[in-house]
Amino acid sequence: MSRSSEQIEALKKRVAKVTSWYHAIDLGDGVMTPGVFQVKSFLPEYGIPDQLDGQRVLDVGASSGFFACEMDRRGAAEVVALDLPGWGDHDWTPRYRADFESKSAEERAYIDDITMRAGFDLVVESMGCKNVRKHEAQIYELSPETVGMFDYVFCGSMLMHVRDPILGIQAMRSVLKPTGRMTVTIAMTLPDTDDSLARFVGDWDQCNWWQMSPRCLDRILKCCDLEVLDERNTFTLTNVDGSFQDPTYVVHARPRQR
Ligand SMILES: C[S@@+](CC[C@H](N)C(=O)[O-])C[C@H]1O[C@@H](n2cnc3c(N)ncnc32)[C@H](O)[C@@H]1O
Repeated sequence: MSRSSEQIEALKKRVAKVTSWYHAIDLGDGVMTPGVFQVKSFLPEYGIPDQLDGQRVLDVGASSGFFACEMDRRGAAEVVALDLPGWGDHDWTPRYRADFESKSAEERAYIDDITMRAGFDLVVESMGCKNVRKHEAQIYELSPETVGMFDYVFCGSMLMHVRDPILGIQAMRSVLKPTGRMTVTIAMTLPDTDDSLARFVGDWDQCNWWQMSPRCLDRILKCCDLEVLDERNTFTLTNVDGSFQDPTYVVHARPRQR
């Protein structure tokens, strides 16, 4: 990557304009996005296949795009990065939605751009990820008709934001090829025992609904016609300054073999 000093300054300005970054990503030339998590340091924990040559890949809840670009780097023929069209499209409560919708159309468009699009577009463009394309929709809208079928589906740290994680998993399952593989990660806030527990943590101004124990997620995957592979992993994701620890469960699955 070779940029002129003017290009580096312009890139730094673009990065600074985006006020909401999830991933801390090294864009080269000393430019880093000021995200909360530098997931690159934890990459081996996620068990993403080393080689994705020629594969169609789906990154569900792509956020600032770190994983989508990583899967492009690993050779994917196409990475569809699914995220919501706008801030208001989250599974909000009616009360929060009404608050949000009382903002002017300009303000909402600005929030959508700065929180949902600008960071992702900048990362994909500046890292030259030619095979990544954004698909703006709800997880529930995934279907073979809307996005086609995939060899690999990745869903990192997003299921707690959906009101109906079972429907979300069913939708992801519907676009997984019979030979495909799926990786799901969740925060591990409940004990890793044989109990399949779910805890409701919703509140009117939050978009967090359900915490699940690892066994609960496994059972939902099975219920959705997936076979859980014997490759589970747990690790502690920490934020960039080390002040926040997020124990994480990683599970891999494939369509149930008939
Ligand atoms: C916590 S971030 C996870 C980012 C990334 N997957 C990772 O593991 O680092 C959750 C992402 O899921 C997206 N999201 C939340 N609800 C969604 C929904 N119902 N459908 C699609 N994406 C959703 C959010 O916009 C956000 O980008």
